[in-house]
Amino acid sequence: MTDDLKISVIDHPLVQHKLTLMRMEETGTKDFRELLEEISMLMAYEITRDLPLVDVSINTPVAKCSSKTLNGKKMGLIPILRAGLGMVDGIVKLIPTIKIGHVGMYRDPKTLKPVEYYCKLPTDVAERTLIVIDPMLATGGSAAAALSLLKEKGAKHIIYLCLVSAPEGIRAINEMHPDIKIYTASIDEKLNENGYIVPGLGDAGDRLFGTL
Ligand code: URA
Repeated sequence: MTDDLKISVIDHPLVQHKLTLMRMEETGTKDFRELLEEISMLMAYEITRDLPLVDVSINTPVAKCSSKTLNGKKMGLIPILRAGLGMVDGIVKLIPTIKIGHVGMYRDPKTLKPVEYYCKLPTDVAERTLIVIDPMLATGGSAAAALSLLKEKGAKHIIYLCLVSAPEGIRAINEMHPDIKIYTASIDEKLNENGYIVPGLGDAGDRLFGTL
């Protein structure tokens, strides 16, 4: 049952095609990396379609006219270490002036609770729309903790962008952070007993960095 989930699925054919290639176990690190970069760029294109525009007066080589430009809304990109790093370059290609912060979380093996081990953010985080990126939204534990951390640091407007999500993780964020809009390319079936998304694509960090 996924009808209760609050999430937007980016079903663009190019995104879906590239995601299928990423899922395939025979896809190696080089292709996986390139595909993640390309999909991230395509997803960034979709999630920025409501960015505010203003009219400016310009001269083309032919005539003076009024034309649209971004109104200079401040944005921030926050990859969750380490797999989130694989989504950075594609998004930066589309939004080259975006500021980048980093959040590192690990799961304490005793308490199973997420623990922050690194956090470095743009200083004016409260004034920015933050795009938090991590390819896999599994249990949602680290994601929800990272979002709480960003709010503690003053963040007021956050968007969460992932590639593949499990219903369990979406539910966790919906419950803990109902104000945060989540985008994904796919809602998969479930988590397995090891916390992997099924069918998923395996360990995104390992496939991205070749640490299999
Ligand atoms: N993290 C991953 O990289 N893959 C999963 O399936 C779940 C969490």
